Amino acid sequence: MSNTSSLDVIASLCKRRGFIFHSSEVYGGINGFWDYGPLGCEMKRNIKDAWWQAMVRDREDVAGLDATIIMHPAIWKASGHLDTFSDPMCTCKSCKKLMRADQVDDILTDGEIGKTLQALLDEHADYGKIAGWCKGKGKGLAPNLPAVTDPDALTAAVEKLKADPACATTLSALYALLGAGAPSTRCPYCGGELTEPRPFNLMFKTIVGPVDDPSNVAYLRPETAQAIFAQFLNVYATSRMSVPFGIAQMGKSFRNEVTPRNYTFRSREFEQMELEFFIKPDEAVELLYGKVTTMADQPDLSVPQKEWGWEVWHKYWVEQRKKWIIACGLPKDSFVEYWQKPDELAHYARACVDIEYAFPFGVQELEGIAARSDFDLTQHQKHSGKSMEVFDEPLKQVCSKMDETAKAAFVEKVAAEWQSRGKDPEAARAFARKLFEGRYIPHVIEPSAGVDRMMLALLCNAYEEQKLVDEKGKEDTRVVMHFSPKVAPVKVAVFPLVKNKPEVYNKAREIFEYLRRRTAAFWDEGGAIGRRYRRQDEVGTPWCITVDFQTAEDDTFTVRERDSMKQERMTLAQFKAMLDEALVF
Ligand code: GAP
Repeated sequence: MSNTSSLDVIASLCKRRGFIFHSSEVYGGINGFWDYGPLGCEMKRNIKDAWWQAMVRDREDVAGLDATIIMHPAIWKASGHLDTFSDPMCTCKSCKKLMRADQVDDILTDGEIGKTLQALLDEHADYGKIAGWCKGKGKGLAPNLPAVTDPDALTAAVEKLKADPACATTLSALYALLGAGAPSTRCPYCGGELTEPRPFNLMFKTIVGPVDDPSNVAYLRPETAQAIFAQFLNVYATSRMSVPFGIAQMGKSFRNEVTPRNYTFRSREFEQMELEFFIKPDEAVELLYGKVTTMADQPDLSVPQKEWGWEVWHKYWVEQRKKWIIACGLPKDSFVEYWQKPDELAHYARACVDIEYAFPFGVQELEGIAARSDFDLTQHQKHSGKSMEVFDEPLKQVCSKMDETAKAAFVEKVAAEWQSRGKDPEAARAFARKLFEGRYIPHVIEPSAGVDRMMLALLCNAYEEQKLVDEKGKEDTRVVMHFSPKVAPVKVAVFPLVKNKPEVYNKAREIFEYLRRRTAAFWDEGGAIGRRYRRQDEVGTPWCITVDFQTAEDDTFTVRERDSMKQERMTLAQFKAMLDEALVF
């Protein structure tokens, strides 16, 4: 399996074989939007089913939700998305292109200007060659770069290079030198001057109802999570679950990404699979059980325990998510955990881990698992005026047995601990006193995954070009997608060895009809068996069944396994048992 295959090769296979198409392609496409074709939508469905199975159906402590994409705009005010969900964006004053300010360097590296300048750096070209680029190729590629348009700027750059050739040994330093300024002030498309970065909100706006008035503005959700918080009280009241418990949701999210890139990796319309797992605040755990388990206790993470504090719950969900990713077919060593540093964390977050996969364009986020404290529910309580507190009868019972001295000591302990984390001690005291009544706003651990990113990682991981030599010494290349059977879009293909013998053809149809009612099966009667195998290898079908003359006699057929290419005779019952086993998560 290969991670070195380029994204272009993967994209080409995906288009050729019906996994992913550019949206609106007949009209020239629309940037940042992708359609999943016959095989792609099957595979995507498998990923979502696998997530739902693991996160909802396999658990007694998680319930599902399917909320609307457009919600009351106040939700996005409360969540902070209206005010802060933005990217810094700048515009080129010459070519008018818009770009994310933090991606200017990357765009330069990936573009023609960057490639030609990098080639000069790679061959240790001196100031003469660089000046030659400005007077030649640079005129076409970067017509607005000062060293290209202004002889004085070029002379100044050349003088600096002459005096100190080491002053521009990196692409961004060289571009800065030729641009007479810092690299981020020059357009990576034409060399023109960039505007100051300004925030650009990523939410798509729409109008609800017939009147195009600011009071009717609504937003397409930029994440599925907020609906879970907004419906927390309803799910809590109807699901008969108590904290700790989770609410899961999957579905479309929309972000008006300034520069969608890397195929489906950063899209403007995509699908998320999110769980908000609500836990008791550590202080409630301490009152209830006399202790809070932390990671310092080196707990066994396999089965949740009532004494767990937020830190252990967070790590538990990191481990659960890794297990799921591996079960979907990504090898353990293909992704890493990136623990955000304290200065990278949102102000309310206690911890956040990104699971990062080694995509062909670099190691990038696949999904994130955040410990978000009680921030979200508190925000919705504040903005909606509705209490988001839960009532915990056992907690009230335990506290009713505490004397006033013990309560006062507890309140001061909480106040001191909050203060040590820069939080208001008065708020801590109020919170602790509420605990004595059995009331608190749950904290939350949020594993948040992207369907499209998971699919892209699985596609990149699965691709392999194998060089094969047949018995006659003839070389051939086999393209094979090594999908796990669990996510493979087609589980089994059925081939009749010949078309013109009813005893073979009809038997094969019978087997196919049986299988298609139970799994994703594909029928192929065209061409030599070898070619049919190759077609299935290229879309990652784990097994191919060939029905031949012997099938009519003993009810066995040949099962060819994709990766080993080994063939074995089996009955339908044997094959079905093997298939069922392989598909269990
Ligand atoms: N509720 C938290 C949240 O939305 P996020 O890191 O912004 O967190 C979670 O998004 C996941 O959603 C990401 O790890 C990624 O898998 C997916 N995702 C986010 N933006 C995306 C985009 N523009 N295109 C494709 N997937 C995206």
